[in-house]
Amino acid sequence: MNEQESEIRRITNHIEDAHSITVLTGAGISAESGIPTFREAQQGLWSRYNPEELATPRAFRQNPHLVMEWYRWRADLVQRAEPNPGHLALVNLEEYCQGQQKEFHLLTQNVDNLHLQAGSTQVLELHGNIHRLKCSQCGKPSSMSLSAWDPDEQLPACSTCGGLLRPDVVWFGENLSTEVINRSFQAARSSDLFFTIGTSALVQPAAALPAEAKQAGAVLIEINPQQTPLSQKVDYQLPFPAGEVLPRLFHRLGG
Ligand code: OAD
Repeated sequence: MNEQESEIRRITNHIEDAHSITVLTGAGISAESGIPTFREAQQGLWSRYNPEELATPRAFRQNPHLVMEWYRWRADLVQRAEPNPGHLALVNLEEYCQGQQKEFHLLTQNVDNLHLQAGSTQVLELHGNIHRLKCSQCGKPSSMSLSAWDPDEQLPACSTCGGLLRPDVVWFGENLSTEVINRSFQAARSSDLFFTIGTSALVQPAAALPAEAKQAGAVLIEINPQQTPLSQKVDYQLPFPAGEVLPRLFHRLGG
C-alpha cells in the first residue's frame, strides 16, 4: 500500500468511528462541473469582475439592472452544469451516515444548488441560492426564479411592497441568516470529523467553522489542490481535485 492509499484508509477509519460528520464546501467542489471559482488567478470570477460593482447592496442600488444581468448570466451557467463525482460522493456519505445513525451536515458556501441537485438533503446554504429571488426592500422571498426574468424586460418587483426583487444571495457587507449560521456553528461544534473541501478558507464567518470544529475536538481534513491558510492546521491535507479524491474516500464505506 502506498502512502496515499494508507492515508485514505486512515480517513476511512475516522469516518467509520465518527458519530457526527460535518462537511464545508466552497467553489472548488463545483470547479469540475465547469463553474468558475472566485479567487483563482485567470479563471476566478473576482479576477475578471469587481465584486464592489456586482456583489454589494450599493452596487444593486446604483445599477440594479447590471447586477441582475450578471447574476442571471451566472444562474444560466449553473443551470447548464451537472453535479460532478465530488457532489455525488457526498450524497453517498450522507446515505452511509443515515444508515449508520451518524449525524451528518453539509454546509456550503456555494449558491449553485448542485448539492441539492445531486441528491444531498442535509444542506445548509450559507450564502443563499442563485436561483431564488427576494425583495430588496421587505426581504420577502419571491416564488419567481431568477431564470424566469427576461433581461430585456423591466426588473421584477415584489408582489407585496413593490420593491425590486434581487438575487437571494449574501453580498459583501451583508450578514448571513442568523439561523443558518447558528446551525452551522452548532454542527461544527458537535462534529468529531470535519471536512473542508474546495474553499480558500478566506471568507468569514464560514472560514471560522473548521477552527471551531477543531477546538471542539474534531479531526480536520482538507481537500484542495492548493494550500490555504488552514492547511497547516489540519490533520490531513489531500492535495487533489475533489471529484477525484472524494469517490475514492467514500466508495469503501459500508463494504
Ligand atoms: P475561492 O474561489 O475563494 O476558493 C476556491 C478554492 O477551491 C481554491 O482554494 C482552489 O484551490 C480550490 N479548488 C479549485 N479546484 C478544485 C477542485 N477541483 N477540488 C477541490 N478544490 C478545488 O472560493 P470559496 O472559498 O468558495 O461568497 O469562496 C468563498 C466565498 O467568496 C464565496 O462563497 C463567495 C466568494 O466571494 C459570496 O458570494 C458571498
